[in-house]
Formats: sequence, C-alpha cells, structure tokens
Amino acid sequence: MKIILDCDPGHDDAVAIILAASAISPLTIEAITTVAGNVEVEKNTLNALKVCDIIGLDVPVAQGAVRPLVKQPEIAEEIHGESGLDGPNLPATPERKAINQHAVDLIIDKLLTANEKLTLVLTGPLTNIALALIKEPKIKDNIEEIVLMGGGSYGNWTPAAEFNIYVDAEAAKVVFESGVPVRMFGLDITHQVLATDKTVTELKEMDHPVADFIAELFIFFIKAYKDHFDFNGGPVHDACTVAHLMDPAIFSFEHLHIDIETKGEHTYGMTVIDRDRVTGKEPNVCVATGLDENRFWSLFKNAIASYGN
Ligand code: BDR
Ligand code: CA
Repeated sequence: MKIILDCDPGHDDAVAIILAASAISPLTIEAITTVAGNVEVEKNTLNALKVCDIIGLDVPVAQGAVRPLVKQPEIAEEIHGESGLDGPNLPATPERKAINQHAVDLIIDKLLTANEKLTLVLTGPLTNIALALIKEPKIKDNIEEIVLMGGGSYGNWTPAAEFNIYVDAEAAKVVFESGVPVRMFGLDITHQVLATDKTVTELKEMDHPVADFIAELFIFFIKAYKDHFDFNGGPVHDACTVAHLMDPAIFSFEHLHIDIETKGEHTYGMTVIDRDRVTGKEPNVCVATGLDENRFWSLFKNAIASYGN
C-alpha cells in the first residue's frame, strides 16, 4: 500500500513515521508533507527531516501550509516543547533537505500521476489536504482512503475539541464533507494507547539508536502529559493510524456520520458524532471504537526492534 504522510512532528508523529518506514511495514511512503500544527511549519519540516536522518529514510519531504484556512495558527509547545520534538539531543540542522515544491502541489502531483490509489495518512491539522481538494478536486478519484488522527467524543484543546481538528476546523469540514472515505482515530481510542516508563525501559533494552531516540521522545512526552493532563503515560495518538494500516486487526470500527462544528461559541472544532444514528444522515466516517492493546504494542515493539537488525 502506498501512502502520503501529512504531519506536524511532534513526538507521536515521529513514531508514526518510524513505524511506517520500518522493515516489517507493508507500506511504501511516497512522500512526507508538513503542516503548521504542533509548532510552526518550518520547525515541523526540520523535525520530519531529522527523523528521516535518524532512520535513513529517503523520501521527498515537502513543506506545506503556514497557517490554517481561516483562523490564526495555534501551537502545542507545552506538549511537544519549543522545537516541537524536545527531549532527544538533536542537531540544529538536518542532513536531508526538503524539496522545493509546496506540499499541496506535491500531494496533487502524486495523486494525479499515481498508477494505483494512494492512502493519505494525516496526523496534523487538515489544512494541506483541504487546500489540495479545493485546488484540484480530481484528486478524489485517486485517494483510496483518508486515515487520520483527530477528533473524538470529547476534547483535549477545549472541552469539546481535539487539537488537530480545533486548529483548522474549516479544513476538517472540507475533508469530512469531501465524499472521500475517511477513517478516524479520535481521543476515545488514542488515549488508551499509552507509552509508559515500562515502554521506555523496553526501548532502552533494545540498545540501538532508533530505540534510544524513541525512548528519549517518550521520556519528554510522558512528563508533558503528566504535567499538563495528569496522565500516567503519553498517548501515541498518531501512531494508531499507521499501526492500523500495518495490522488491520488491531482496531475495530463503526461507520457513523460526523459533522464538524465551525460556529459554536464553546464547541468550535468538535467532531459531532452521530453515534445513535439520530440524524438519519449517511455515515461518512469509519470511527475507531475498539482496540487490542497488546496487539498494538507487539506491532510497535517488532517494528522498532527491526531497526536493530
Ligand atoms: C494530536 O495533537 C498533536 O499534539 C499530536 O501530535 C496529535 O496529532 C493529539 O490531539
Ligand atoms: Ca500530530
């Protein structure tokens, strides 16, 4: 399966990239594109390139939207640190360089020229994909599915809204109403997938640079979630998207209708999930509602261990 990974790395975005590029992954990464989200897009791009350096991944990396469609940008420095990837000791400048093409144009080009449908994996705000759908609606025919981390029945940025959807709810509305199949991993599920001190110990025991890098990421991330949300672990939200594509038996889903709230005073960015099908509207999203936690962590460990071989 060929994927484009649109992201804002971001600790959990970095894990998503590393899983997708691992030796046990059936996925081919056609491109990595970046978007303003956890931190400014320039920093997210540098972080994506640094992750590629660490794992030796050579794919086109293209920088995308500097801000959401309508609102001003909002960043999550308190969770991901000033760099967006605080924790590990990383060089200021990556060895690899971003290509000289805007992410939106690269996404359109890749989709229009692909000889098979591509899956779009979105782990940041949905700005780039909304812009691509607006600029070239023909791309819809070549998207197998949009698999995203975002939303849920409650929020983490406001009581109602999850960060990725809140940052650019107008873009999320474009994507959810596009008619393209959407698969959503919201907070109800991703908050059940927690990296803990035990995960860090197991990574250190693997004793190779990629495992050490993720261990350092998790040490920072676990503390941020403790300080900010009083969580006993760091949710590896974004990695759920890629884990599902690598092993479809990890998660279970319900096909439901979801509207994106863009007007509410207290509910901007909410994913309004019609769980009991009260609207009678056609389902437009496959929502992850169940998981086999052990199966997730076994995939995670096998994927990271494969970097040590
Ligand atoms: C999402 O927001 C970001 O901080 C994470 O990388 C993840 O994509 C979780 O709400
Ligand atoms: Ca993210």
